[in-house]
Amino acid sequence: MGKREITSGCCFDFDKSVERRDTASLKWDKYKGKDIIPLWVADMDFCSPPAVIDALQRRIAHGVFGYTIPPSDLNRIVVAMLEAEYGWSVKPQWLVWLPGLVTGLNVACRAVGEDNDAVMTATPIYPPFLSAPGNFRRKLVKVPLREQQNRWEFDFDRLENAITPDTRLFLLCNPHNPVGRVFSREELNTLAGICIKHDMVICSDEIHCGLLLDSDKVHIPTAKLAPEVAARTITLMSPSKTFNLPGLGCAFAVISEKKLRRRFMAAMAGIVPAVNTLGYTAAAAAYRDCAEWHADLLDYLRANRDSVARAIDQMPRLSLTPIEATYLAWIDVRSSDLNNPVRFFEDAGVGLQDGIEFDGRGFVRLNFGCARSLLEKALERMASAIERYANSK
Ligand SMILES: Cc1ncc(COP(=O)(O)O)c(C=O)c1O
Repeated sequence: MGKREITSGCCFDFDKSVERRDTASLKWDKYKGKDIIPLWVADMDFCSPPAVIDALQRRIAHGVFGYTIPPSDLNRIVVAMLEAEYGWSVKPQWLVWLPGLVTGLNVACRAVGEDNDAVMTATPIYPPFLSAPGNFRRKLVKVPLREQQNRWEFDFDRLENAITPDTRLFLLCNPHNPVGRVFSREELNTLAGICIKHDMVICSDEIHCGLLLDSDKVHIPTAKLAPEVAARTITLMSPSKTFNLPGLGCAFAVISEKKLRRRFMAAMAGIVPAVNTLGYTAAAAAYRDCAEWHADLLDYLRANRDSVARAIDQMPRLSLTPIEATYLAWIDVRSSDLNNPVRFFEDAGVGLQDGIEFDGRGFVRLNFGCARSLLEKALERMASAIERYANSK
């Protein structure tokens, strides 16, 4: 597995190690010159799909890189993808292109409410959720997710109690980074009901929606729940996680309600640059031509996830809840009494991300979007270091 011939003669070989050192890679250059396997920031070590690389090469061969607009067929491709994947009917004019999804989170905070209004989110959470409100003089209200019967859930009572009349926006992440949950229709309906009751806008970051690993789960776009939910929802999506294109900066918002969409676009004016030519080209090819690659990627990531789960299960005092989506493992190290778990694992030769950045002290995040041989080497390093540590106690 991990290898498949396709018509163009290319193959999807996720086992193949691609040298990323000295390519100005954020992930790999952090540990330049050190024997530390980087499993931190959320990009994958895999090549992008051959169809994306072909499309980019054709566009580059043209040689002229003037100001650009979204390619004429791109909105149609995205609309068809949303219908086919999620049964979600979207009009092309509801799409707003963005040079990154984090830009969208920030624009949402700027577009909704006034100075000193509050923005709510559930923690732990991807760090820009924590910083975006303050960038626009909004107060951040954090409500912790709770761990119940080996899974992370919203604490709806606590969440509703924390809402005040100036709470205007809820920043939702589904599928969730870092806890890996795919929220159910029931959970999303309850959350949306609270937002309707308190007249709050929902900004729904769905960047990981192409990375569902559990075959019995489905991704439900928040805005698809009901027309009254769509009317207050800004959905943010991007091909960048699923097709490994984050360096090309291309994302989009879906906003069906006209006034909300106008407010969002007004908040972008003069600040948010256009998406670049290569980002658009890659997005179109990714959503149109890469279904087989995508299916193979999910198989590969499922097996990686299972390796991580088995390995962590054997490591004394470390634990993990089931990862339903994403290529990220949120590892609980609270029982290990390690003072600085990231430093500890770096000393063992593995670079993880500190839970503190996500408002999740006592956790580390491991990115398993890499060749299995590298992942297994990292897991072996972690296992022997933590075993030595446990035996020394
Ligand atoms: C939930 C979430 N949103 C947004 C992003 C980043 O999006 P972009 O690179 O398009 O700004 C990430 C990257 O890890 C993410 O996990």
